Amino acid sequence: MRGIWDGVGIDFNRDSVERTMVIGIGLFGDSVERTIAVPCSCLSIAYLSHAFSSISLESNLSSLEWRHRMERPVRGTLSRVHAILSPPPASFSTSSTQTLSPIRNHLFFIFTPLSTHIHTDTATMDLINGLLNLVAPPFTFFTLLLFLPPWMFFKFCLGLIHSVFSENVSGKVILITGASSGIGEHLAYEYASRGACLALCARREGRLQEVADRCRQIGSPDVIVIRADVSHAHDCKRIVDQTVNHFNRLDHLVNNAGISQVCMLEEADDITNLRPVMDINFWGSVYTTKFAAPHLRNSGGRIIVLSSSASWVPLPRMSVYNASKAALAQFYDTMRVEFGSDVKITVVTPGFIESELTQGKFLSHEGKLVVDYDARDVQVNVSPVMKVERCARSIVKGALRGERYVTEPGWMKMSYVWKVLWPEAVEMINRLMCITTVGGESRHDTFGKKVMDIAGGQNILYPQSIQSSEMKAD
Ligand SMILES: NC(=O)c1ccc[n+]([C@@H]2O[C@H](COP(=O)([O-])OP(=O)(O)OC[C@H]3O[C@@H](n4cnc5c(N)ncnc54)[C@H](OP(=O)(O)O)[C@@H]3O)[C@@H](O)[C@H]2O)c1
Repeated sequence: MRGIWDGVGIDFNRDSVERTMVIGIGLFGDSVERTIAVPCSCLSIAYLSHAFSSISLESNLSSLEWRHRMERPVRGTLSRVHAILSPPPASFSTSSTQTLSPIRNHLFFIFTPLSTHIHTDTATMDLINGLLNLVAPPFTFFTLLLFLPPWMFFKFCLGLIHSVFSENVSGKVILITGASSGIGEHLAYEYASRGACLALCARREGRLQEVADRCRQIGSPDVIVIRADVSHAHDCKRIVDQTVNHFNRLDHLVNNAGISQVCMLEEADDITNLRPVMDINFWGSVYTTKFAAPHLRNSGGRIIVLSSSASWVPLPRMSVYNASKAALAQFYDTMRVEFGSDVKITVVTPGFIESELTQGKFLSHEGKLVVDYDARDVQVNVSPVMKVERCARSIVKGALRGERYVTEPGWMKMSYVWKVLWPEAVEMINRLMCITTVGGESRHDTFGKKVMDIAGGQNILYPQSIQSSEMKAD
């Protein structure tokens, strides 16, 4: 509403405000309730009258005559507007208004009394929202119908060009968090095979050294290892500082470090035990992004962030994990707007991928990292698990082609369509497969796991490496 008055205040003198208000009342009716329509009609009609100043309604009657024709409530409203548009009282002076230009000073006096004198905000907003409720659906439908096909075609052509001329990372500097295992480890190998310099970070330094050695063998000219815990902001600053001090630049930041929880919300006696999920998955990425941002702006760099299909699939027992991944996706969609074209962003939303996570490494409800093989079967269920090498290759290729989102395996994109169009079906299936217990007391005796056990699904759907709970030690 204030925006509307702002427009009126700038463009029209006192008389024209009256006239446009009157026209507004003429259109919307003159009952007390409908006087609330005035500010709204002012905007559209005032602009019209501004553009076509020979409106007959205006020319035939003076503003005074119009005023006589109005009902009392309308006059009341107008007199308040007069008060608002009057010059500020001489007694009013604050340090801030003294420094304002005459126009801004005038606006200030429109804004301030509005909040105290005109009590139509709620009703006006209801009206505007009502209008938008009516207009938005057809507007959206026809705009999409008209502009989406050419836009998709344009993006398709751009995709073709980018796949031919994708970014060359040879000699560039890539910082990867969570590079000691799983997806992060294999992303390191992918970048290394393209000749990139690497800064690898995680908590298990021994594992990182092994990964670094292999990266050097594969073709990376220079690899450093940084032991750090991304849930601490000071560690994230140190990771970025150490990388930039060593290489003098930063081109890609890969926010991959993450853990998952597997427990129902009500199983957690102390709910704060689940905080590390958010601290590592969400805040860990936010911290590194904050500290890396100036360097990435300098290099016109890219952020690759590991969100998850779980950001839209409501998988039970992973509520906090799902939320952390949804938060990441929205955070980086917002960052795209803040960075503009200075820093590009690829949000990765994998399904189930071969890693320590799909091997059953979870944060328990007691707040400890455990390997729960049975819980893994319940969670992963009848979903095929993708080989990590393929996934990492696809992520790096997608990022170098400049893709905004990468989802692997590709069919997982369809789960988004289901979620948007038929969320009840998605919830029902998840409940059936992961919650419904069959033939036993254990929370692991779920329908999905029974199906897997009977059909020997693991051998078909899971890679060999995650068919045992044996982890690589540090
Ligand atoms: N695998 C999947 O199915 C799947 C699906 C969707 C999304 N994702 C996401 O992909 C990312 C990689 O996971 P993954 O599947 O490869 O699992 P993973 O094998 O368990 O790898 C997780 C990595 O994160 C690191 N990490 C964990 N906590 C950390 C901390 N506080 N500070 C620094 N590093 C930390 C781990 O290293 P240390 O333990 O040595 O610190 C490890 O290198 C995660 O963000 C995960 O949520 C995975």
